[in-house]
Amino acid sequence: MRVLVTGAAGFIGYHVCRQLLNRGDEVFGVDSLNSYYDPRLKRDRLANLVNQKSFRFAHLDLTHDSATSTLQNAGPFDATIHLAAQAGVRYSQEAPRSYTASNIVGFINVLEASRGIKNHHLIFGSSSSVYGECRVIPVQETVDTTRPVSLYAATKMAGELMAYSYAAQYGLQVTALRFFTVYGPWGRPDMAIFKFTEAILNNRPVELFAGGTLRRDFTFVDDTVQGILAAVDRPPADRDDGYRVYNLGRGTPVTVNELLEQLEVCLNRRAIRRVVPFQSGDVSVTYADIHAAQNDIGYQPSVSLADGLQRFVEWYQRYYLNAELPLKHSA
Ligand SMILES: NC(=O)c1ccc[n+]([C@@H]2O[C@H](COP(=O)([O-])OP(=O)(O)OC[C@H]3O[C@@H](n4cnc5c(N)ncnc54)[C@H](O)[C@@H]3O)[C@@H](O)[C@H]2O)c1
Repeated sequence: MRVLVTGAAGFIGYHVCRQLLNRGDEVFGVDSLNSYYDPRLKRDRLANLVNQKSFRFAHLDLTHDSATSTLQNAGPFDATIHLAAQAGVRYSQEAPRSYTASNIVGFINVLEASRGIKNHHLIFGSSSSVYGECRVIPVQETVDTTRPVSLYAATKMAGELMAYSYAAQYGLQVTALRFFTVYGPWGRPDMAIFKFTEAILNNRPVELFAGGTLRRDFTFVDDTVQGILAAVDRPPADRDDGYRVYNLGRGTPVTVNELLEQLEVCLNRRAIRRVVPFQSGDVSVTYADIHAAQNDIGYQPSVSLADGLQRFVEWYQRYYLNAELPLKHSA
């Protein structure tokens, strides 16, 4: 299978590319390598991909009008996995235009590139944030998602709607996957697990929004990638009208306080805790009902939080501290 992966140098995109290559697919990756977080991390992820013979890469900003023709010329592809985006809830208050640029304009350019291809399947990386402050948990894909509480969430919901319109008008097959707080080796420096690890190892305080009472459905990246590849292999059926949406969470939320305690065990160090207020744009709980993805595409999250954190910590120490650890896992 020939697969286009956007955001290939990003956290999830990198793992997706690796798994696709491992199973023998041909991958064309694109990324702008922007500096939302340290681009060195993106380049280092990429360095692990470019030495593989079935991988090609284009340094491409999807917001440029010419991106559509660049993708068309590189194709055709059997499937597109669209993961390039401006991520992060809190940063959308600081830099709103980077969200409309990458998540709306960039996505239109990808949709346009997919438009003319027969039987094309587009997998879109959406987010649990589309649920806002949902009162009914675990949350099912069918609940109302018209009340986003951050611009990030609004652009992700807009992406789902844009993709739906391409399914309806042009026969594009679309699977939207709502990811729930993905973590693991090569993870994002702006996310809690990464920041907490950095703070603990440098004896700096860990900031606990709302006193660490927020609950998150932390999902290990290998599980998310298993779900993405399962979706790739099972395009929407006729009954889906060419469009479907699934939660890819773990289905077992924990509080941030519980997460921190587990991380202290993995690092064998105590954190200095600093309580900070609840931030607007955040939601108090994310908790996925994953039955639809389990039943329809065979999604099977299997990595416990303790195991996943251990794998993250081992990678972090190796990558940042060059620590010679007895490695239990390879990342
Ligand atoms: N990690 C999570 O917990 C999580 C949760 C929900 C949804 N998501 C979504 O999953 C996708 C991947 O997330 P991630 O955690 O790997 O983030 P990431 O920031 O590591 O990866 C996104 C990549 O997209 C690239 N990119 C951004 N704008 C671009 C543009 N205009 N043109 C080309 N490339 C561009 C970035 O350089 C980056 O490498 C994103 O769409 C994100 O919104 C992630």
